[in-house]
Amino acid sequence: MPLPKAELHLHVEGTLEPELAFTLAARNGVRLPYADTDALRTAYRFKDLQSFLNLYYELMAVLRTEQDFADLANAYLARAAAQGVRHAEIFFDPQAHIARGVSLGTVVEGLWRALGSSERNHGVSTKLIMCFLRDESADSALETLQAATPYLDRITGIGLDSAEVGHPPLKFREVYQAAAALGLRRVAHAGEEGPPAYITEALDVLGVERVDHGLRCMEDPELVERLVRERVPLTLCPLSNVRLRAVETLAEHPLPAMLDAGLLCTVNSDDPAYFGGYAGDNFDAVRDTLHLSEDRLRELARNSFLAAFLEDDEERRAR
Ligand code: ADE
Ligand code: ZN
Repeated sequence: MPLPKAELHLHVEGTLEPELAFTLAARNGVRLPYADTDALRTAYRFKDLQSFLNLYYELMAVLRTEQDFADLANAYLARAAAQGVRHAEIFFDPQAHIARGVSLGTVVEGLWRALGSSERNHGVSTKLIMCFLRDESADSALETLQAATPYLDRITGIGLDSAEVGHPPLKFREVYQAAAALGLRRVAHAGEEGPPAYITEALDVLGVERVDHGLRCMEDPELVERLVRERVPLTLCPLSNVRLRAVETLAEHPLPAMLDAGLLCTVNSDDPAYFGGYAGDNFDAVRDTLHLSEDRLRELARNSFLAAFLEDDEERRAR
């Protein structure tokens, strides 16, 4: 039996497996520039975050209808459930779809077809987190938040993702303030490729309650002390870090040192279709390669529920 856990860092578009990409391409008459799934898989060699994002955005072309988003989310939830995920807080990138002529309504309604019945169908409770693309303008983020008004009953929080370096959190101060006023929870990617100062800025300027990745905090001992003191959860993604070359090898991943330092770490999959594994695969990889003890693994699973945006009664049911 896999350890029950919550997944807190998961981009639904990053769960698009090659087989589903080709199925949706055929259904929607979209031509992919790859002969077959094997040819597509050979493109999964990334040298950094941007080289991955290029493919990630390209493959989104196959997602066009509500049913496509429902099929995508259902496929993820089935895989996640099989790996012990009991609760998933799922990111999506509305601007990437709106820019292709797919409306926010199509995306949210489609995802909701799967999420709305996920507890019943998969035994996985869910929350939806709408991310802004940090390499787009602050005005575009504000327009996207405005466009989300009819769907706010389905959206728990906001996040910030895409190309990090050169796009500091400060750029999004206004939209995070507006989201807070609407009662939305706040997270942001920081310290994946960007410097530790972006983590500090995400906390101080955006008021985030969790930091996505946060890996590079380890370069700043004072920041580590603060994150420990304030019990700020970090949503780490070990297999992602290897594939996007944030670390050279999994054996060199700082997760053990982060746990030893007292950081509230969680283990997640980020974009599992691209990075070689879902939540349980990430747990298995850190157990085997970083030799984490059973106690440490249980701590990571416990942290995932502590860091989730669950009410007490929801948390009890999810565990
Ligand atoms: N979008 C999807 N995956 C991402 C990641 N790992 N970092 C930033 N943006 C992303
Ligand atoms: Zn991510």
